Amino acid sequence: MDNRITCWREWKELFLSRSKRRMPAAEPLGKYRNLPPSLAASLAIFQLGESGGGTVVEQARASRLAGIDDDYADAMALFVAEEHRHADILALCVEQLGGELIENNWTARLFVAARRLIGLRLKVLVLLAAEVVGICYYYLIACRLPVSPVRDWLEELVADEQSHLDFHCDFLHAQADRPWKRAVFVVTWRVTMLLAAAVVMVDHRAAIRDLGMDRRTIWRRWMTYSRLAERLVVQRRGKLVRVR
Ligand SMILES: [Fe+2]
Ligand SMILES: [Fe+2]
Repeated sequence: MDNRITCWREWKELFLSRSKRRMPAAEPLGKYRNLPPSLAASLAIFQLGESGGGTVVEQARASRLAGIDDDYADAMALFVAEEHRHADILALCVEQLGGELIENNWTARLFVAARRLIGLRLKVLVLLAAEVVGICYYYLIACRLPVSPVRDWLEELVADEQSHLDFHCDFLHAQADRPWKRAVFVVTWRVTMLLAAAVVMVDHRAAIRDLGMDRRTIWRRWMTYSRLAERLVVQRRGKLVRVR
Protein backbone atom coordinates (compact mmCIF):
# COMPACT_ATOMS: atom_id res chain seq x y z
CA MET A 1 0.00 0.00 0.00
CA ASP A 2 1.35 3.43 -0.93
CA ASN A 3 1.53 5.60 2.17
CA ARG A 4 3.14 8.55 0.38
CA ILE A 5 2.49 11.89 2.00
CA THR A 6 0.57 14.03 -0.46
CA CYS A 7 0.75 17.58 0.91
CA TRP A 8 2.99 19.81 3.03
CA ARG A 9 0.45 19.89 5.85
CA GLU A 10 0.94 16.14 6.30
CA TRP A 11 4.72 16.61 6.48
CA LYS A 12 4.19 19.33 9.05
CA GLU A 13 1.95 17.05 11.12
CA LEU A 14 4.45 14.19 10.92
CA PHE A 15 7.35 16.37 12.10
CA LEU A 16 5.14 17.95 14.75
CA SER A 17 4.19 14.54 16.16
CA ARG A 18 7.85 13.53 16.30
CA SER A 19 8.88 16.81 17.95
CA LYS A 20 7.28 15.58 21.17
CA ARG A 21 9.79 12.75 21.60
CA ARG A 22 11.93 13.03 24.70
CA MET A 23 15.69 13.13 24.58
CA PRO A 24 17.28 9.83 25.62
CA ALA A 25 18.93 9.81 29.02
CA ALA A 26 22.69 9.38 29.43
CA GLU A 27 23.91 5.96 30.53
CA PRO A 28 26.76 5.27 32.96
CA LEU A 29 30.03 5.94 31.17
CA GLY A 30 32.55 3.23 30.40
CA LYS A 31 30.32 0.75 28.52
CA TYR A 32 32.04 1.31 25.21
CA ARG A 33 35.71 0.92 26.14
CA ASN A 34 36.41 -1.56 23.35
CA LEU A 35 35.39 0.80 20.58
CA PRO A 36 38.05 2.84 18.75
CA PRO A 37 38.40 6.57 19.60
CA SER A 38 38.07 7.32 15.87
CA LEU A 39 34.36 6.41 16.11
CA ALA A 40 33.68 9.20 18.64
CA ALA A 41 35.75 11.59 16.49
CA SER A 42 33.73 10.64 13.41
CA LEU A 43 30.37 11.11 15.17
CA ALA A 44 31.60 14.49 16.50
CA ILE A 45 31.98 15.66 12.88
CA PHE A 46 28.42 14.54 12.10
CA GLN A 47 27.26 16.25 15.30
CA LEU A 48 28.61 19.53 13.96
CA GLY A 49 26.96 18.96 10.58
CA GLU A 50 23.55 18.35 12.20
CA SER A 51 23.70 21.60 14.18
CA GLY A 52 23.10 24.23 11.46
CA GLY A 53 20.32 24.97 9.02
CA GLY A 54 18.51 28.09 10.25
CA THR A 55 18.76 30.04 6.98
CA VAL A 56 16.95 27.39 4.96
CA VAL A 57 13.83 28.06 7.06
CA GLU A 58 13.99 31.82 6.34
CA GLN A 59 14.50 31.05 2.68
CA ALA A 60 11.52 28.67 2.62
CA ARG A 61 9.35 31.36 4.26
CA ALA A 62 10.42 34.04 1.77
CA SER A 63 10.35 31.78 -1.29
CA ARG A 64 7.91 32.38 -4.13
CA LEU A 65 8.63 29.05 -5.81
CA ALA A 66 5.63 27.20 -7.20
CA GLY A 67 4.49 24.12 -5.33
CA ILE A 68 5.28 25.30 -1.80
CA ASP A 69 3.27 27.15 0.82
CA ASP A 70 3.30 28.19 4.48
CA ASP A 71 2.89 24.57 5.55
CA TYR A 72 6.11 23.75 3.70
CA ALA A 73 7.97 26.51 5.57
CA ASP A 74 6.52 25.25 8.88
CA ALA A 75 7.50 21.68 8.00
CA MET A 76 11.01 22.91 7.12
CA ALA A 77 11.30 24.63 10.53
CA LEU A 78 10.26 21.40 12.26
CA PHE A 79 12.69 19.42 10.08
CA VAL A 80 15.57 21.71 11.15
CA ALA A 81 14.52 21.28 14.80
CA GLU A 82 14.60 17.51 14.29
CA GLU A 83 18.15 17.77 12.89
CA HIS A 84 19.11 19.76 15.99
CA ARG A 85 17.71 16.92 18.09
CA HIS A 86 20.00 14.61 16.10
CA ALA A 87 22.90 16.91 17.00
CA ASP A 88 21.95 16.55 20.70
CA ILE A 89 21.71 12.75 20.39
CA LEU A 90 25.07 12.58 18.60
CA ALA A 91 26.59 14.77 21.33
CA LEU A 92 25.33 12.17 23.80
CA CYS A 93 26.85 9.37 21.67
CA VAL A 94 30.21 11.17 21.59
CA GLU A 95 30.10 11.64 25.36
CA GLN A 96 29.20 7.97 25.93
CA LEU A 97 32.06 6.90 23.68
CA GLY A 98 34.49 9.05 25.65
CA GLY A 99 35.13 11.53 22.84
CA GLU A 100 35.15 15.31 22.59
CA LEU A 101 32.78 17.57 20.69
CA ILE A 102 34.35 19.85 18.10
CA GLU A 103 33.54 23.37 16.88
CA ASN A 104 35.21 23.24 13.51
CA ASN A 105 35.86 20.74 10.74
CA TRP A 106 36.66 21.11 7.04
CA THR A 107 33.83 18.91 5.74
CA ALA A 108 31.28 20.65 7.99
CA ARG A 109 32.60 24.03 6.71
CA LEU A 110 32.30 22.77 3.13
CA PHE A 111 28.72 21.65 3.75
CA VAL A 112 27.78 25.01 5.33
CA ALA A 113 29.50 26.94 2.51
CA ALA A 114 27.60 24.94 -0.11
CA ARG A 115 24.32 25.66 1.62
CA ARG A 116 25.07 29.38 1.95
CA LEU A 117 26.09 29.97 -1.64
CA ILE A 118 22.90 28.87 -3.22
CA GLY A 119 19.12 29.22 -3.47
CA LEU A 120 16.46 27.08 -1.87
CA ARG A 121 16.39 24.37 -4.55
CA LEU A 122 20.13 23.76 -4.50
CA LYS A 123 20.17 24.06 -0.73
CA VAL A 124 17.60 21.27 -0.46
CA LEU A 125 19.63 19.22 -2.95
CA VAL A 126 22.70 19.55 -0.68
CA LEU A 127 20.54 18.57 2.31
CA LEU A 128 19.35 15.53 0.35
CA ALA A 129 22.97 14.45 -0.23
CA ALA A 130 23.56 14.75 3.53
CA GLU A 131 20.52 12.52 4.18
CA VAL A 132 21.85 9.83 1.83
CA VAL A 133 25.28 9.96 3.48
CA GLY A 134 23.77 9.88 7.00
CA ILE A 135 21.29 7.06 6.34
CA CYS A 136 24.02 4.70 5.14
CA TYR A 137 26.80 5.75 7.49
CA TYR A 138 24.75 5.69 10.72
CA TYR A 139 23.27 2.33 9.70
CA LEU A 140 26.65 0.72 9.00
CA ILE A 141 28.05 2.00 12.29
CA ALA A 142 24.97 0.76 14.21
CA CYS A 143 25.48 -2.70 12.66
CA ARG A 144 28.96 -2.83 14.18
CA LEU A 145 27.94 -1.84 17.70
CA PRO A 146 26.90 -4.23 20.44
CA VAL A 147 23.26 -4.06 21.55
CA SER A 148 23.37 -0.77 23.44
CA PRO A 149 21.70 2.65 23.77
CA VAL A 150 24.16 4.22 21.28
CA ARG A 151 23.16 1.59 18.71
CA ASP A 152 19.45 2.28 19.36
CA TRP A 153 19.96 6.03 19.03
CA LEU A 154 21.77 5.66 15.71
CA GLU A 155 18.99 3.40 14.41
CA GLU A 156 16.46 6.08 15.36
CA LEU A 157 18.50 8.62 13.41
CA VAL A 158 18.49 6.33 10.36
CA ALA A 159 14.68 6.10 10.47
CA ASP A 160 14.37 9.90 10.74
CA GLU A 161 16.83 10.49 7.90
CA GLN A 162 14.85 8.12 5.65
CA SER A 163 11.77 10.28 6.03
CA HIS A 164 13.87 13.45 5.57
CA LEU A 165 15.00 11.97 2.25
CA ASP A 166 11.36 11.55 1.24
CA PHE A 167 10.55 15.11 2.38
CA HIS A 168 13.31 16.67 0.26
CA CYS A 169 12.47 14.43 -2.71
CA ASP A 170 8.84 15.62 -2.56
CA PHE A 171 10.05 19.23 -2.75
CA LEU A 172 12.51 18.60 -5.58
CA HIS A 173 9.92 16.57 -7.49
CA ALA A 174 7.52 19.53 -7.30
CA GLN A 175 10.28 21.80 -8.67
CA ALA A 176 11.41 19.46 -11.46
CA ASP A 177 8.19 19.90 -13.44
CA ARG A 178 9.75 20.15 -16.91
CA PRO A 179 12.10 17.78 -18.80
CA TRP A 180 14.95 20.33 -18.86
CA LYS A 181 14.60 20.94 -15.12
CA ARG A 182 14.73 17.20 -14.49
CA ALA A 183 17.88 16.97 -16.64
CA VAL A 184 19.53 19.82 -14.68
CA PHE A 185 18.57 18.11 -11.43
CA VAL A 186 20.06 14.75 -12.50
CA VAL A 187 23.42 16.27 -13.50
CA THR A 188 23.65 18.51 -10.41
CA TRP A 189 22.52 15.71 -8.12
CA ARG A 190 25.01 13.14 -9.42
CA VAL A 191 27.94 15.58 -9.17
CA THR A 192 26.91 16.72 -5.65
CA MET A 193 26.42 13.16 -4.45
CA LEU A 194 29.77 11.98 -5.82
CA LEU A 195 31.56 14.92 -4.18
CA ALA A 196 29.76 14.43 -0.85
CA ALA A 197 30.51 10.68 -0.81
CA ALA A 198 34.18 11.19 -1.70
CA VAL A 199 34.68 13.92 0.92
CA VAL A 200 33.05 11.89 3.70
CA MET A 201 34.99 8.77 2.72
CA VAL A 202 38.26 10.69 3.09
CA ASP A 203 37.36 12.59 6.26
CA HIS A 204 36.05 9.50 8.09
CA ARG A 205 38.68 7.05 6.84
CA ALA A 206 40.06 6.37 10.35
CA ALA A 207 36.69 5.27 11.76
CA ILE A 208 35.92 3.30 8.58
CA ARG A 209 39.23 1.46 8.90
CA ASP A 210 39.07 0.94 12.68
CA LEU A 211 35.51 -0.42 12.57
CA GLY A 212 36.43 -2.80 9.76
CA MET A 213 33.93 -1.32 7.35
CA ASP A 214 34.39 -2.18 3.70
CA ARG A 215 34.74 1.03 1.66
CA ARG A 216 33.18 -0.61 -1.41
CA THR A 217 30.11 -1.58 0.64
CA ILE A 218 29.73 1.98 1.93
CA TRP A 219 30.13 3.42 -1.56
CA ARG A 220 27.65 0.93 -3.03
CA ARG A 221 25.08 1.83 -0.37
CA TRP A 222 25.53 5.55 -0.98
CA MET A 223 25.11 5.08 -4.73
CA THR A 224 22.06 2.83 -4.28
CA TYR A 225 20.33 5.41 -2.08
CA SER A 226 21.46 8.16 -4.44
CA ARG A 227 19.75 6.42 -7.38
CA LEU A 228 16.63 5.82 -5.28
CA ALA A 229 16.44 9.53 -4.42
CA GLU A 230 16.94 10.38 -8.10
CA ARG A 231 14.04 8.13 -9.09
CA LEU A 232 11.84 9.65 -6.39
CA VAL A 233 12.50 13.13 -7.78
CA VAL A 234 12.45 12.38 -11.50
CA GLN A 235 10.05 9.47 -11.94
CA ARG A 236 8.18 9.44 -8.65
CA ARG A 237 9.21 5.80 -8.39
CA GLY A 238 11.08 3.89 -5.74
CA LYS A 239 9.73 3.99 -2.24
CA LEU A 240 11.31 4.03 1.17
CA VAL A 241 9.84 2.34 4.18
CA ARG A 242 8.70 5.35 6.14
CA VAL A 243 8.98 4.99 9.89
CA ARG A 244 6.47 7.18 11.64
FE1 LIG B 1 20.06 14.19 10.93
FE1 LIG C 1 18.18 14.50 8.07
